[in-house]
Amino acid sequence: MITLDPGNISDYISDSEVEESLPGAIRALDSLVNRKGRGSEMLGWLDLPSVPAESTGRLEEEGERVREECDCLVVTGIGGSYLGARAAIEALCEEAEFPVYFAGNNLSSLYHSRLLHKLQDRRFAVCVISKSGTTTETAIAFRLLKELIREQDDPRSSERIIAITDPRKGALRKLAEEIGITVFDIPRDVGGRFSILSPVGLLPCAVAGIPVEEMLEGAADALEEYTRKADSNIMLLYALTRHLLQAKGIAVEVLSTFQPEMNQFCEWWKQLAGESEGKEGGGLFPASTVMTTDLHSLGQLLQEGRRNILETFLISNKPCRELIVPEEEENLDNLNYLAGKSLGQINRKAYEGTRDAHISGKIPVLSLEIPSITPRAMGELFIFFELAVSVSGRMAGINPFDQPGVEEYKKRMFRLLEKPGV
Ligand code: PA5
Repeated sequence: MITLDPGNISDYISDSEVEESLPGAIRALDSLVNRKGRGSEMLGWLDLPSVPAESTGRLEEEGERVREECDCLVVTGIGGSYLGARAAIEALCEEAEFPVYFAGNNLSSLYHSRLLHKLQDRRFAVCVISKSGTTTETAIAFRLLKELIREQDDPRSSERIIAITDPRKGALRKLAEEIGITVFDIPRDVGGRFSILSPVGLLPCAVAGIPVEEMLEGAADALEEYTRKADSNIMLLYALTRHLLQAKGIAVEVLSTFQPEMNQFCEWWKQLAGESEGKEGGGLFPASTVMTTDLHSLGQLLQEGRRNILETFLISNKPCRELIVPEEEENLDNLNYLAGKSLGQINRKAYEGTRDAHISGKIPVLSLEIPSITPRAMGELFIFFELAVSVSGRMAGINPFDQPGVEEYKKRMFRLLEKPGV
């Protein structure tokens, strides 16, 4: 399970402040579990860890079929419709195992022409994901990919396309039914950024070869553990720390990882926190760093810049693989003091040193640790953070499950593009 090291948080939040706000955090959790309060119609994500085995089986079968019949997968979606899958795949899969590419998460012609070029002579599969079925970025990329499949003149082309969308409405649903491709449903009561444990995240993961039932098991255990109404529930402590620090002028939360393979997980978390809590003038700005890379870039600002940051370290203790620093007789680089040590041991010391340095630099820091990065642990982390931002959001009195602000750029872009009817 995840463990919480509260670091130096007690220098910023007193025990009595924690005691006073704990009942509020428990009430927020209670309202989620009992499906009450603002946005309660979008709490279907709480049911996802316990989806029936036959649904998981269907996803796994489809994953296996794609792996057998195609040589790579292109996941086409934006925001909550791709970030979770990308996070899990980057954390858990070797690139060479079964390549998974991502399209439709930007409007760059260079990005998409490079991708199309790479796919030209390959029997690629496309998994197009959009709950609304009308998202411009996704639809454009899907059109480009369909066009390439058409040019490849494949008599079984429709078997290479899978759609994941709303069970009843939207342009993608209609298109999928018309061209007769496999479709998986996104439950109506699950929003994009909470959909990683639905087919949105699980199908791409299954194609990539991740044992999705293990991820769901981890999520189910986490759901049980982190919905306990007790002061030993670390999810509640993390959620209320974020809430209280915001009231004390903290404006930014940096999620710092020492595992580059967790970079996309940080991107998933940024969307989850930003879109859920950035409302009504509030919310911590979610940022991330990948250490030790960023110690040579953002480290200076973290150490000595403006003190409005909470740093949450996301640490995994045991690497899945180890490398040992070799001994060299000449020792010209003076590195023999590290010979025989593993990179994992050195990385751990880098984390400990960084945390101490940032504490001395007067940043509130806390650490969330997992034993190692496994499908189970990923399932746990997804649920842990989904619960935490929901509780912090509810404590702040906002609806964590809508995203009205996202429409503003769309309206203006459509007007500029002269979209009919806008
Ligand atoms: O979290 C969300 O709801 C959003 O980020 C959506 O996932 C994103 O805008 C994509 O929407 P759709 O799945 O409708 O294409």
